[in-house]
Amino acid sequence: YLNYHVPRTRRDILEILLKGLHRLEYRGYDSAGVGIDAGNGKDWETNAKSIQLIKQRGKVKMLDEEINKQQDIEMDVEFDVHLGIAHTRWATHGAPSPVNSHPHRSDKTNEFIVVHNGIITNYKDLRKFLESKGYEFESETDTESIAKLVKYMFDNRENNDISFATLVERVTQQLEGAFALVFKSVHYPGEAVGTRRGSPLLMGVRCDHKLSSDHIPVVYRSTTKDKKGCTALPRSDRDTCLFPVDEKSVEYYFASDASAVIEHTNRVIFLEDDDVAAVVEGRLSIHRIKRTAGDYPARAIQTLQMELQQIMKGNYSSFMQKEIFEQPESVVNTMRGRINFENNTVTLGGLKDHIKEIQRCRRLILIACGTSYHAGVATRQVLEELTELPVMVELASDFLDRNTPVFRDDVCFFISQSGETADTLMALRYSKERGALTVGITNTVGSSISRETDCGVHINAGPEIGVASTKAYTSQFVALIMFALLMSDDRISMQPRRREIIQGLRVLPDLIKDVLALDDEIQKLAMELYEQKSVLIMGRGYHYATCLEGALKIKEITYMHSEGIMAGELKHGPLALVDKLMPVIMIIMRDHTYNKCQNALQQIVARQGRPIVICDKDDYETAKNSSRTIKVPHCVDCLQGVLSVIPLQLLSFHLAVLRGYDVDFPRNLAKSVTVE
Ligand code: F6R
Repeated sequence: YLNYHVPRTRRDILEILLKGLHRLEYRGYDSAGVGIDAGNGKDWETNAKSIQLIKQRGKVKMLDEEINKQQDIEMDVEFDVHLGIAHTRWATHGAPSPVNSHPHRSDKTNEFIVVHNGIITNYKDLRKFLESKGYEFESETDTESIAKLVKYMFDNRENNDISFATLVERVTQQLEGAFALVFKSVHYPGEAVGTRRGSPLLMGVRCDHKLSSDHIPVVYRSTTKDKKGCTALPRSDRDTCLFPVDEKSVEYYFASDASAVIEHTNRVIFLEDDDVAAVVEGRLSIHRIKRTAGDYPARAIQTLQMELQQIMKGNYSSFMQKEIFEQPESVVNTMRGRINFENNTVTLGGLKDHIKEIQRCRRLILIACGTSYHAGVATRQVLEELTELPVMVELASDFLDRNTPVFRDDVCFFISQSGETADTLMALRYSKERGALTVGITNTVGSSISRETDCGVHINAGPEIGVASTKAYTSQFVALIMFALLMSDDRISMQPRRREIIQGLRVLPDLIKDVLALDDEIQKLAMELYEQKSVLIMGRGYHYATCLEGALKIKEITYMHSEGIMAGELKHGPLALVDKLMPVIMIIMRDHTYNKCQNALQQIVARQGRPIVICDKDDYETAKNSSRTIKVPHCVDCLQGVLSVIPLQLLSFHLAVLRGYDVDFPRNLAKSVTVE
């Protein structure tokens, strides 16, 4: 947030920042921080020559309380110009703690500070380089390297007039991975620079006066170099800046998402990858190194018409729908930096010190509840295949009820999106007491399960808000497959199979997109089914888990009865339920169970059932015997479950909407079940 010639007290400024964080809290809520001007001078420029950081673990509320405790912050002093940056974090590197929260700083005197969303994949190399130059790191985060790097660029500048934007641009040229960044510095009082690559960043512009234009031409640095090869910001070139016409009052906001700024302004500019946006003396300009094909050389100022709630959910009607559609990206985030697709290797940093011990164990026990349990069921077979170990999959509550024997040479996995599920946590403590090695597969760094396990894998799916779990399931699935691949790393006989799976993971995000494109078709199916009382879902082998998970989704958000049935068990009872009225969904994929599934299909048809079948794209044989098919792309057998579950996620969503229920907040359920 930056105000230019709009008088604001520090109290106002902090309130704007904290409110913005509250709006973004759904993106991450394990710690938060702010960086504000802190000098004691009467004029804003002196104030901006020193920076104060306040950071706190926990929700934004905790940061708010921490700010209120600060005795030495003069709250009612008014500023004409003030830049403050703030951040709410969802840990990826380093547990939630004040020192790991953002803003991160270049040095103890806070010369440069930065907030970051995303992941820097080459941060270890950067850190090594900067440490060799004498920079001392205080956190475990990837972001801190950025704060140190910008100071390094500043200290080694060849030209005293170097602009803040140029420095930032040099920093981004060294970064690999995904980022949205905003910088502030005592060397550039009243100036803000933001940039992005792969993570979203927008700017809000609030001004009661007319703006000079409704778009900003992009300045291409490659064509505007000065004699020293360094471009100063076009401070005087009004054609390339956005400025308020009377040059008096304007406020700028940088944010990852419009929900943080919408209560202040609905005029926003969505930045593109590699744009560097700089505000200098109240004027905004946008820079890029060079023009690339397809790059439109201006950024429009758009007027948003949406309500706050809508913006947080983007164009989706619920968080669940948004999270279903996020799966092409969330599975990439689970794999990011962990799989080398060129030489078919997998690295899981959180397991590296324990992997030898795991390879020597007597058996693997996967313990979880609900959807997370289904992720264990879904991957059990490939875990057995690649580890050649016995694998048990246990519901945490039942595992405890049975006082299941656990031994020192067992390895127990605790799979949990929230990392806080009471039954899973109790089972963890129970297994630990018996000396087993414990491994967490969670989506929440710093959660009880991730803290109490000996080691683990963070699935990096991003915050899941919809109560019905969707993207966490597919990310848990992928994380467990990566573990199986790691376990079989040195088995020569398994290399062809490993290569096949790794190359399957490579194309998985694109195949997920293809399945999501079936949304309209699935909505039509939902229109035919939504008044039914019950839906049976049948399958076997790799897809039994999909049946259980699909039925759970339908139950929890549509309140219809639904049952996942192992197709091999049909003749042992469930077949009695089948008649021409009972809706039956079958999952039949071209894998080793294909022929047996065909038998089950015949049994259903023979009882006048009219099965709806989720099958391979080119499976005409199955299509002949079905009343309807949902055709999904083919992939490696053990990954196919990631694709077959998505039509059922979409179906449950559409059924719930048609039945008039609140998809995100189903009755009687909570996102995190912290009681037994
Ligand atoms: C279903 C669902 C629940 C959770 C279960 C475990 O959509 O979300 O069944 O999977 O409560 O929660 P976590 O994974 O947080 O341990």
